[in-house]
Amino acid sequence: MPLVAGVDTSTQSCKIVVRDAETGALVRSGSAKHPDGTEIHPDHWWDAFREAAREAGGLDDVAAIAVGGQQHGMVALDADGRVIRDALLWNDTRSAPAAEDLIHELGDGDRTTGAQRWADVTGSVLVASLTITKLRWLRDAEPDNAARVAAVALPHDWLSWRIAGYGPADSSPLGPDLDALCTDRSDASGTGYYDAQASDGGTTGAYRRDLLRLGLGRDDVALPRVLAPSEPGGVAHPSIAGGAVDGGALIGPGTGDNAGAALGLGMQPGDIAISLGTSGVVSAVAPRRTADGSGAINGFADATGNALMLAVTLNAARVLDAARSVLGASFDELSDLALAAPAGSDGLVLVPYLEGERTPNRPDATGTLHGVRLATSTREHLARAYVEGMLCGLADGLDALRAQDVPVERVLLIGGAAQSPAVQEVATQVFGLPISVPEPGEYVADGAARQAAWVLATAGSPGAGAPEWSAAVARTLDADPRPVVREQYAAVRDLV
Ligand code: XUL
Repeated sequence: MPLVAGVDTSTQSCKIVVRDAETGALVRSGSAKHPDGTEIHPDHWWDAFREAAREAGGLDDVAAIAVGGQQHGMVALDADGRVIRDALLWNDTRSAPAAEDLIHELGDGDRTTGAQRWADVTGSVLVASLTITKLRWLRDAEPDNAARVAAVALPHDWLSWRIAGYGPADSSPLGPDLDALCTDRSDASGTGYYDAQASDGGTTGAYRRDLLRLGLGRDDVALPRVLAPSEPGGVAHPSIAGGAVDGGALIGPGTGDNAGAALGLGMQPGDIAISLGTSGVVSAVAPRRTADGSGAINGFADATGNALMLAVTLNAARVLDAARSVLGASFDELSDLALAAPAGSDGLVLVPYLEGERTPNRPDATGTLHGVRLATSTREHLARAYVEGMLCGLADGLDALRAQDVPVERVLLIGGAAQSPAVQEVATQVFGLPISVPEPGEYVADGAARQAAWVLATAGSPGAGAPEWSAAVARTLDADPRPVVREQYAAVRDLV
Protein backbone atom coordinates (compact mmCIF):
# COMPACT_ATOMS: atom_id res chain seq x y z
CA MET A 1 0.00 0.00 0.00
CA PRO A 2 1.56 3.36 -0.93
CA LEU A 3 1.69 5.90 1.88
CA VAL A 4 1.28 9.67 1.56
CA ALA A 5 2.11 12.51 3.94
CA GLY A 6 0.07 15.64 4.58
CA VAL A 7 1.64 18.60 6.37
CA ASP A 8 -0.10 21.55 8.04
CA THR A 9 2.35 24.38 8.67
CA SER A 10 -0.09 26.42 10.73
CA THR A 11 0.28 29.58 12.76
CA GLN A 12 0.90 27.69 15.98
CA SER A 13 2.54 24.42 14.97
CA CYS A 14 3.52 21.96 12.28
CA LYS A 15 1.42 18.80 12.05
CA ILE A 16 2.10 15.79 9.84
CA VAL A 17 -0.18 12.86 9.07
CA VAL A 18 0.95 9.75 7.19
CA ARG A 19 -1.99 7.98 5.57
CA ASP A 20 -2.70 5.02 3.33
CA ALA A 21 -3.11 6.53 -0.15
CA GLU A 22 -6.04 4.33 -1.09
CA THR A 23 -8.17 4.08 2.05
CA GLY A 24 -7.05 7.24 3.83
CA ALA A 25 -6.43 5.24 7.03
CA LEU A 26 -4.16 7.08 9.47
CA VAL A 27 -0.84 5.27 9.85
CA ARG A 28 1.34 7.69 11.85
CA SER A 29 1.42 11.34 12.89
CA GLY A 30 3.65 13.93 14.53
CA SER A 31 3.63 17.60 15.50
CA ALA A 32 5.94 20.32 16.78
CA LYS A 33 5.27 23.86 18.01
CA HIS A 34 6.04 27.16 16.31
CA PRO A 35 7.02 30.20 18.38
CA ASP A 36 4.27 32.72 19.20
CA GLY A 37 4.12 36.06 17.46
CA THR A 38 2.92 37.67 14.26
CA GLU A 39 6.39 37.83 12.70
CA ILE A 40 8.44 34.65 12.57
CA HIS A 41 11.66 33.58 10.89
CA PRO A 42 10.64 30.75 8.48
CA ASP A 43 13.58 28.64 9.71
CA HIS A 44 11.37 27.89 12.75
CA TRP A 45 8.84 26.31 10.36
CA TRP A 46 11.60 24.18 8.84
CA ASP A 47 12.86 23.08 12.25
CA ALA A 48 9.31 22.23 13.39
CA PHE A 49 8.70 20.29 10.16
CA ARG A 50 11.85 18.20 10.75
CA GLU A 51 10.87 17.57 14.36
CA ALA A 52 7.28 16.64 13.45
CA ALA A 53 8.59 14.30 10.71
CA ARG A 54 10.82 12.56 13.27
CA GLU A 55 7.89 12.26 15.65
CA ALA A 56 5.85 10.75 12.79
CA GLY A 57 8.48 8.03 12.42
CA GLY A 58 10.22 9.64 9.43
CA LEU A 59 9.02 10.15 5.87
CA ASP A 60 11.31 7.75 3.97
CA ASP A 61 8.43 5.48 3.00
CA VAL A 62 5.97 8.08 1.61
CA ALA A 63 5.35 8.13 -2.14
CA ALA A 64 3.90 11.66 -2.18
CA ILE A 65 3.77 14.64 0.17
CA ALA A 66 1.83 17.93 0.15
CA VAL A 67 1.87 20.96 2.43
CA GLY A 68 -1.12 22.98 3.59
CA GLY A 69 -0.34 26.17 5.43
CA GLN A 70 -1.40 29.40 7.06
CA GLN A 71 -2.30 31.76 4.21
CA HIS A 72 -0.89 35.14 3.20
CA GLY A 73 2.38 35.28 5.22
CA MET A 74 5.07 37.29 3.40
CA VAL A 75 8.27 35.29 2.90
CA ALA A 76 10.69 37.61 1.10
CA LEU A 77 13.80 35.90 -0.33
CA ASP A 78 17.00 37.45 -1.68
CA ALA A 79 18.86 36.21 -4.75
CA ASP A 80 20.74 33.68 -2.59
CA GLY A 81 17.47 32.15 -1.37
CA ARG A 82 17.89 33.67 2.09
CA VAL A 83 14.93 35.01 4.03
CA ILE A 84 15.38 38.79 4.10
CA ARG A 85 13.42 39.50 7.30
CA ASP A 86 11.06 37.64 9.59
CA ALA A 87 7.89 36.67 7.73
CA LEU A 88 4.91 38.90 8.50
CA LEU A 89 1.97 36.60 9.16
CA TRP A 90 -1.72 36.88 8.20
CA ASN A 91 -2.59 38.13 11.70
CA ASP A 92 -0.04 40.95 11.73
CA THR A 93 -2.04 44.16 11.36
CA ARG A 94 0.77 46.72 10.85
CA SER A 95 -0.06 46.91 7.13
CA ALA A 96 -3.68 48.06 7.69
CA PRO A 97 -2.85 51.63 6.50
CA ALA A 98 -1.06 50.16 3.47
CA ALA A 99 -4.25 48.24 2.60
CA GLU A 100 -6.25 51.48 2.71
CA ASP A 101 -3.66 53.29 0.57
CA LEU A 102 -3.76 50.55 -2.07
CA ILE A 103 -7.56 50.56 -2.16
CA HIS A 104 -7.60 54.32 -2.72
CA GLU A 105 -4.88 54.13 -5.34
CA LEU A 106 -6.65 51.47 -7.43
CA GLY A 107 -9.84 53.53 -7.13
CA ASP A 108 -8.13 56.70 -8.39
CA GLY A 109 -8.74 58.25 -4.99
CA ASP A 110 -12.21 56.82 -4.40
CA ARG A 111 -12.43 54.08 -1.77
CA THR A 112 -15.68 52.46 -2.95
CA THR A 113 -14.45 52.23 -6.53
CA GLY A 114 -11.09 50.91 -5.37
CA ALA A 115 -12.63 48.27 -3.11
CA GLN A 116 -14.81 46.99 -5.95
CA ARG A 117 -11.87 46.92 -8.36
CA TRP A 118 -9.75 44.81 -5.98
CA ALA A 119 -12.70 42.45 -5.48
CA ASP A 120 -13.33 42.18 -9.23
CA VAL A 121 -9.73 41.33 -10.07
CA THR A 122 -8.53 39.31 -7.07
CA GLY A 123 -11.77 38.25 -5.33
CA SER A 124 -10.91 40.20 -2.17
CA VAL A 125 -10.99 43.76 -0.90
CA LEU A 126 -7.59 44.31 0.70
CA VAL A 127 -7.13 44.04 4.46
CA ALA A 128 -3.90 43.82 6.43
CA SER A 129 -3.85 40.02 6.14
CA LEU A 130 -3.23 39.90 2.41
CA THR A 131 0.37 39.56 1.23
CA ILE A 132 0.39 42.58 -1.07
CA THR A 133 -0.27 44.95 1.83
CA LYS A 134 2.77 43.55 3.62
CA LEU A 135 4.88 44.18 0.52
CA ARG A 136 3.67 47.78 0.45
CA TRP A 137 4.56 48.10 4.14
CA LEU A 138 8.04 46.70 3.36
CA ARG A 139 8.48 49.16 0.49
CA ASP A 140 7.76 52.10 2.77
CA ALA A 141 9.11 50.99 6.17
CA GLU A 142 12.18 49.00 5.12
CA PRO A 143 13.25 50.20 1.65
CA ASP A 144 16.67 48.53 1.89
CA ASN A 145 15.01 45.17 2.50
CA ALA A 146 12.46 45.83 -0.25
CA ALA A 147 15.29 46.50 -2.72
CA ARG A 148 16.84 43.09 -1.98
CA VAL A 149 13.66 41.08 -2.68
CA ALA A 150 14.31 38.54 -5.47
CA ALA A 151 11.31 36.26 -4.81
CA VAL A 152 8.13 36.37 -2.75
CA ALA A 153 6.73 33.10 -1.39
CA LEU A 154 4.04 32.08 1.08
CA PRO A 155 4.57 29.77 4.07
CA HIS A 156 3.38 26.60 2.30
CA ASP A 157 5.29 27.12 -0.92
CA TRP A 158 8.49 28.06 0.91
CA LEU A 159 8.26 24.83 2.96
CA SER A 160 7.54 22.74 -0.19
CA TRP A 161 10.64 24.33 -1.80
CA ARG A 162 12.74 23.32 1.21
CA ILE A 163 11.30 19.78 1.09
CA ALA A 164 12.38 19.59 -2.57
CA GLY A 165 15.90 20.35 -1.33
CA TYR A 166 16.16 24.05 -2.28
CA GLY A 167 17.28 26.85 0.02
CA PRO A 168 20.40 28.89 0.77
CA ALA A 169 23.56 27.20 -0.57
CA ASP A 170 25.01 26.54 2.89
CA SER A 171 21.90 24.88 4.31
CA SER A 172 20.25 22.93 1.48
CA PRO A 173 21.31 20.13 -0.87
CA LEU A 174 20.19 21.85 -4.11
CA GLY A 175 20.83 25.55 -3.42
CA PRO A 176 18.76 28.65 -4.16
CA ASP A 177 16.89 27.99 -7.43
CA LEU A 178 14.12 30.58 -7.13
CA ASP A 179 12.48 29.37 -10.35
CA ALA A 180 11.78 26.04 -8.64
CA LEU A 181 9.25 27.68 -6.26
CA CYS A 182 5.71 26.34 -6.80
CA THR A 183 2.32 27.06 -5.27
CA ASP A 184 -1.36 26.37 -5.92
CA ARG A 185 -4.40 28.46 -6.86
CA SER A 186 -5.82 28.57 -3.35
CA ASP A 187 -2.81 30.16 -1.72
CA ALA A 188 -1.98 32.35 -4.75
CA SER A 189 -5.54 33.70 -4.54
CA GLY A 190 -4.76 35.17 -1.10
CA THR A 191 -1.80 37.25 -2.22
CA GLY A 192 -3.70 40.22 -3.71
CA TYR A 193 -1.75 39.94 -6.99
CA TYR A 194 -3.32 36.88 -8.54
CA ASP A 195 -6.53 36.42 -10.50
CA ALA A 196 -7.70 32.83 -9.99
CA GLN A 197 -10.37 33.19 -12.67
CA ALA A 198 -8.17 34.64 -15.40
CA SER A 199 -8.38 32.43 -18.43
CA ASP A 200 -4.91 31.26 -19.38
CA GLY A 201 -6.19 28.23 -21.25
CA GLY A 202 -5.88 26.10 -18.11
CA THR A 203 -7.10 26.11 -14.55
CA THR A 204 -4.25 27.99 -12.93
CA GLY A 205 -5.31 31.65 -13.28
CA ALA A 206 -2.72 34.38 -13.72
CA TYR A 207 -0.54 36.68 -11.65
CA ARG A 208 -1.27 40.38 -11.93
CA ARG A 209 2.22 41.85 -11.98
CA ASP A 210 0.75 45.32 -12.40
CA LEU A 211 -0.75 44.96 -8.92
CA LEU A 212 2.47 43.51 -7.52
CA ARG A 213 4.24 46.62 -8.85
CA LEU A 214 1.65 48.81 -7.17
CA GLY A 215 2.40 47.06 -3.86
CA LEU A 216 6.14 46.50 -3.85
CA GLY A 217 7.08 49.29 -6.21
CA ARG A 218 8.66 46.82 -8.66
CA ASP A 219 7.71 43.52 -10.23
CA ASP A 220 11.08 42.08 -11.29
CA VAL A 221 10.84 39.32 -8.70
CA ALA A 222 10.28 35.58 -9.00
CA LEU A 223 6.82 34.31 -8.01
CA PRO A 224 6.03 30.63 -7.40
CA ARG A 225 4.70 28.79 -10.44
CA VAL A 226 0.98 28.08 -9.91
CA LEU A 227 0.23 24.38 -10.36
CA ALA A 228 -3.10 22.78 -11.31
CA PRO A 229 -4.91 20.90 -8.49
CA SER A 230 -3.27 17.48 -8.91
CA GLU A 231 -0.08 18.52 -10.71
CA PRO A 232 3.19 17.54 -9.02
CA GLY A 233 5.64 20.31 -8.19
CA GLY A 234 8.69 18.04 -8.35
CA VAL A 235 10.13 15.36 -6.12
CA ALA A 236 11.15 15.62 -2.46
CA HIS A 237 14.86 15.47 -1.79
CA PRO A 238 15.52 11.85 -0.73
CA SER A 239 17.23 13.01 2.46
CA ILE A 240 13.93 14.64 3.50
CA ALA A 241 11.12 12.36 2.24
CA GLY A 242 10.65 9.36 -0.04
CA GLY A 243 14.25 8.13 0.24
CA ALA A 244 13.10 4.49 0.41
CA VAL A 245 10.55 4.74 -2.44
CA ASP A 246 11.40 4.05 -6.11
CA GLY A 247 11.40 7.38 -7.94
CA GLY A 248 11.08 9.29 -4.65
CA ALA A 249 8.12 11.20 -3.16
CA LEU A 250 6.12 13.46 -5.49
CA ILE A 251 5.42 16.90 -4.03
CA GLY A 252 1.84 18.11 -4.43
CA PRO A 253 1.00 21.74 -5.23
CA GLY A 254 0.05 22.22 -1.58
CA THR A 255 -2.76 24.51 -0.46
CA GLY A 256 -3.80 27.32 1.82
CA ASP A 257 -5.08 25.97 5.12
CA ASN A 258 -8.74 26.78 4.55
CA ALA A 259 -8.78 25.07 1.15
CA GLY A 260 -6.89 22.19 2.74
CA ALA A 261 -9.57 21.82 5.42
CA ALA A 262 -12.31 21.88 2.75
CA LEU A 263 -10.52 19.08 0.90
CA GLY A 264 -9.95 17.14 4.13
CA LEU A 265 -13.63 17.45 5.06
CA GLY A 266 -14.83 16.55 1.56
CA MET A 267 -17.04 19.67 1.53
CA GLN A 268 -19.84 19.86 -1.06
CA PRO A 269 -21.84 22.93 -2.19
CA GLY A 270 -24.39 23.65 0.59
CA ASP A 271 -21.90 22.72 3.31
CA ILE A 272 -20.57 25.56 5.40
CA ALA A 273 -17.47 24.95 7.50
CA ILE A 274 -17.12 27.13 10.58
CA SER A 275 -13.65 26.77 11.97
CA LEU A 276 -12.92 27.95 15.49
CA GLY A 277 -9.14 28.23 15.65
CA THR A 278 -6.86 31.23 16.16
CA SER A 279 -8.90 32.77 13.36
CA GLY A 280 -12.61 32.13 12.95
CA VAL A 281 -13.41 31.11 9.40
CA VAL A 282 -16.78 30.67 7.72
CA SER A 283 -16.23 29.00 4.35
CA ALA A 284 -18.13 27.46 1.47
CA VAL A 285 -17.10 25.80 -1.79
CA ALA A 286 -18.78 27.29 -4.88
CA PRO A 287 -18.30 26.83 -8.63
CA ARG A 288 -17.22 30.45 -9.14
CA ARG A 289 -16.25 33.21 -6.78
CA THR A 290 -18.20 36.40 -6.42
CA ALA A 291 -16.66 39.83 -6.06
CA ASP A 292 -17.91 41.31 -2.78
CA GLY A 293 -16.95 44.98 -2.81
CA SER A 294 -18.08 45.31 0.83
CA GLY A 295 -15.06 43.19 1.76
CA ALA A 296 -16.96 40.81 4.03
CA ILE A 297 -16.28 37.82 1.77
CA ASN A 298 -12.95 36.78 0.32
CA GLY A 299 -13.39 35.00 -3.00
CA PHE A 300 -10.41 32.68 -2.87
CA ALA A 301 -9.80 29.54 -4.94
CA ASP A 302 -10.17 26.08 -3.43
CA ALA A 303 -7.79 23.15 -3.95
CA THR A 304 -9.90 21.38 -6.59
CA GLY A 305 -10.52 24.01 -9.29
CA ASN A 306 -13.55 25.62 -7.61
CA ALA A 307 -13.86 28.80 -5.56
CA LEU A 308 -13.66 29.01 -1.77
CA MET A 309 -15.71 31.81 -0.32
CA LEU A 310 -14.53 32.87 3.12
CA ALA A 311 -15.36 35.29 5.89
CA VAL A 312 -12.55 35.48 8.44
CA THR A 313 -12.66 36.87 11.96
CA LEU A 314 -9.62 37.43 14.14
CA ASN A 315 -11.53 36.53 17.30
CA ALA A 316 -12.45 32.90 17.71
CA ALA A 317 -10.89 30.32 20.05
CA ARG A 318 -8.92 33.01 21.84
CA VAL A 319 -12.17 34.65 22.97
CA LEU A 320 -12.83 31.49 24.94
CA ASP A 321 -9.23 31.52 26.21
CA ALA A 322 -9.86 35.08 27.44
CA ALA A 323 -13.06 33.97 29.17
CA ARG A 324 -11.21 31.12 30.85
CA SER A 325 -8.55 33.44 32.11
CA VAL A 326 -11.09 35.99 33.43
CA LEU A 327 -13.08 33.22 35.14
CA GLY A 328 -10.15 31.03 36.18
CA ALA A 329 -11.99 28.15 34.51
CA SER A 330 -10.89 25.09 32.58
CA PHE A 331 -12.23 24.38 29.08
CA ASP A 332 -14.89 22.03 30.52
CA GLU A 333 -15.81 24.38 33.39
CA LEU A 334 -16.33 27.24 30.96
CA SER A 335 -18.71 25.07 28.96
CA ASP A 336 -20.67 24.04 32.08
CA LEU A 337 -20.89 27.65 33.26
CA ALA A 338 -22.15 28.90 29.88
CA LEU A 339 -24.81 26.18 29.70
CA ALA A 340 -26.08 27.18 33.16
CA ALA A 341 -27.11 30.67 31.92
CA PRO A 342 -30.14 31.30 29.67
CA ALA A 343 -29.94 31.94 25.91
CA GLY A 344 -29.19 35.64 25.51
CA SER A 345 -27.53 35.74 28.93
CA ASP A 346 -30.29 38.05 30.22
CA GLY A 347 -28.98 40.84 28.01
CA LEU A 348 -25.26 40.57 28.77
CA VAL A 349 -23.57 40.91 25.37
CA LEU A 350 -19.90 40.68 24.44
CA VAL A 351 -18.75 42.27 21.19
CA PRO A 352 -15.61 40.15 20.85
CA TYR A 353 -13.17 42.37 18.94
CA LEU A 354 -10.42 41.52 21.42
CA GLU A 355 -7.66 41.58 18.77
CA GLY A 356 -9.13 44.27 16.53
CA GLU A 357 -11.23 42.69 13.78
CA ARG A 358 -10.95 41.82 10.13
CA THR A 359 -14.62 41.11 9.26
CA PRO A 360 -15.95 43.73 9.78
CA ASN A 361 -12.70 45.54 9.00
CA ARG A 362 -11.85 47.22 12.33
CA PRO A 363 -8.14 46.65 12.94
CA ASP A 364 -8.06 49.03 15.91
CA ALA A 365 -11.32 47.98 17.63
CA THR A 366 -11.42 46.58 21.16
CA GLY A 367 -14.01 44.31 22.74
CA THR A 368 -16.94 45.68 24.71
CA LEU A 369 -19.31 44.21 27.26
CA HIS A 370 -22.87 45.55 27.33
CA GLY A 371 -25.77 44.97 29.70
CA VAL A 372 -23.73 44.57 32.89
CA ARG A 373 -26.19 44.63 35.81
CA LEU A 374 -26.15 43.10 39.25
CA ALA A 375 -28.26 40.22 37.96
CA THR A 376 -25.89 39.51 35.04
CA SER A 377 -22.72 39.81 37.14
CA THR A 378 -22.35 36.08 37.55
CA ARG A 379 -19.75 33.66 36.25
CA GLU A 380 -22.47 31.84 34.31
CA HIS A 381 -23.71 34.96 32.51
CA LEU A 382 -20.19 36.04 31.66
CA ALA A 383 -19.26 32.61 30.29
CA ARG A 384 -22.38 32.53 28.13
CA ALA A 385 -21.83 36.08 26.85
CA TYR A 386 -18.30 35.17 25.67
CA VAL A 387 -19.52 32.04 23.85
CA GLU A 388 -22.47 33.87 22.28
CA GLY A 389 -20.35 36.89 21.30
CA MET A 390 -17.77 34.73 19.55
CA LEU A 391 -20.48 32.88 17.61
CA CYS A 392 -22.40 36.09 16.75
CA GLY A 393 -19.22 37.42 15.12
CA LEU A 394 -19.14 34.31 12.95
CA ALA A 395 -22.90 34.48 12.28
CA ASP A 396 -22.30 37.89 10.68
CA GLY A 397 -19.87 36.10 8.35
CA LEU A 398 -22.51 33.47 7.55
CA ASP A 399 -24.99 36.23 6.64
CA ALA A 400 -22.40 37.77 4.35
CA LEU A 401 -22.08 34.44 2.52
CA ARG A 402 -25.85 34.20 2.19
CA ALA A 403 -25.89 37.72 0.78
CA GLN A 404 -23.63 36.44 -2.01
CA ASP A 405 -26.23 33.72 -2.80
CA VAL A 406 -24.04 30.93 -1.47
CA PRO A 407 -26.30 27.96 -0.60
CA VAL A 408 -26.35 27.23 3.14
CA GLU A 409 -27.75 23.86 4.23
CA ARG A 410 -25.60 22.44 6.97
CA VAL A 411 -22.87 23.73 9.25
CA LEU A 412 -19.75 21.68 9.95
CA LEU A 413 -18.22 22.97 13.17
CA ILE A 414 -14.48 22.33 13.36
CA GLY A 415 -11.39 23.51 15.26
CA GLY A 416 -10.44 23.01 18.89
CA ALA A 417 -13.23 25.17 20.35
CA ALA A 418 -15.86 23.14 18.44
CA GLN A 419 -15.40 20.36 20.99
CA SER A 420 -17.04 22.46 23.72
CA PRO A 421 -20.64 21.29 24.38
CA ALA A 422 -21.62 24.89 25.09
CA VAL A 423 -20.23 26.06 21.76
CA GLN A 424 -22.12 23.28 19.96
CA GLU A 425 -25.43 24.04 21.67
CA VAL A 426 -25.17 27.82 21.36
CA ALA A 427 -24.22 27.36 17.67
CA THR A 428 -27.61 25.69 16.97
CA GLN A 429 -29.27 28.74 18.56
CA VAL A 430 -27.16 31.51 17.01
CA PHE A 431 -26.90 30.04 13.48
CA GLY A 432 -30.41 28.53 13.59
CA LEU A 433 -29.17 25.58 11.50
CA PRO A 434 -28.42 21.89 12.07
CA ILE A 435 -24.84 21.47 13.24
CA SER A 436 -22.52 18.55 12.47
CA VAL A 437 -19.37 18.17 14.50
CA PRO A 438 -16.90 15.89 12.69
CA GLU A 439 -14.50 13.73 14.71
CA PRO A 440 -11.69 15.96 15.97
CA GLY A 441 -8.91 15.76 13.43
CA GLU A 442 -6.16 17.53 11.58
CA TYR A 443 -8.32 18.53 8.62
CA VAL A 444 -5.73 20.72 6.96
CA ALA A 445 -3.03 18.03 7.15
CA ASP A 446 -5.66 15.49 6.06
CA GLY A 447 -6.58 17.64 3.07
CA ALA A 448 -2.91 17.94 2.15
CA ALA A 449 -2.55 14.15 2.45
CA ARG A 450 -5.63 13.66 0.25
CA GLN A 451 -4.09 16.01 -2.30
CA ALA A 452 -0.84 14.01 -2.17
CA ALA A 453 -2.84 10.82 -2.83
CA TRP A 454 -4.58 12.57 -5.73
CA VAL A 455 -1.24 13.61 -7.23
CA LEU A 456 -0.03 10.03 -6.90
CA ALA A 457 -3.20 8.64 -8.51
CA THR A 458 -2.94 11.16 -11.36
CA ALA A 459 0.69 10.20 -12.00
CA GLY A 460 -0.42 6.57 -12.44
CA SER A 461 -3.63 7.35 -14.32
CA PRO A 462 -3.97 10.85 -15.83
CA GLY A 463 -7.37 12.40 -15.12
CA ALA A 464 -7.93 10.41 -11.89
CA GLY A 465 -10.15 12.19 -9.37
CA ALA A 466 -9.32 12.88 -5.72
CA PRO A 467 -9.59 9.65 -3.70
CA GLU A 468 -12.84 9.24 -1.74
CA TRP A 469 -11.86 9.42 1.90
CA SER A 470 -14.67 10.04 4.36
CA ALA A 471 -14.56 12.35 7.39
CA ALA A 472 -16.52 10.74 10.24
CA VAL A 473 -19.25 12.87 11.87
CA ALA A 474 -19.19 12.45 15.64
CA ARG A 475 -22.28 14.41 16.60
CA THR A 476 -25.26 16.03 14.88
CA LEU A 477 -27.48 18.60 16.61
CA ASP A 478 -30.82 19.94 15.40
CA ALA A 479 -31.41 23.63 14.73
CA ASP A 480 -32.75 25.55 17.76
CA PRO A 481 -33.08 29.16 16.55
CA ARG A 482 -33.08 31.82 19.32
CA PRO A 483 -33.24 35.12 17.40
CA VAL A 484 -32.89 37.15 20.61
CA VAL A 485 -29.18 36.40 20.81
CA ARG A 486 -28.37 37.97 17.47
CA GLU A 487 -30.87 40.81 17.92
CA GLN A 488 -29.20 41.87 21.16
CA TYR A 489 -25.80 41.61 19.54
CA ALA A 490 -26.80 43.60 16.45
CA ALA A 491 -28.12 46.38 18.70
CA VAL A 492 -24.70 47.03 20.26
CA ARG A 493 -22.15 45.74 17.72
CA ASP A 494 -21.63 49.06 16.00
CA LEU A 495 -21.55 51.30 19.07
CA VAL A 496 -18.05 52.63 19.54
C1 XUL B 1 -7.53 33.33 5.75
C2 XUL B 1 -6.66 33.65 6.92
C3 XUL B 1 -6.50 32.67 8.00
C4 XUL B 1 -5.17 32.01 7.93
C5 XUL B 1 -4.99 31.20 9.19
O1 XUL B 1 -7.72 34.42 4.91
O2 XUL B 1 -6.06 34.69 7.01
O3 XUL B 1 -7.51 31.70 8.01
O4 XUL B 1 -5.08 31.24 6.75
O5 XUL B 1 -4.04 30.27 9.08
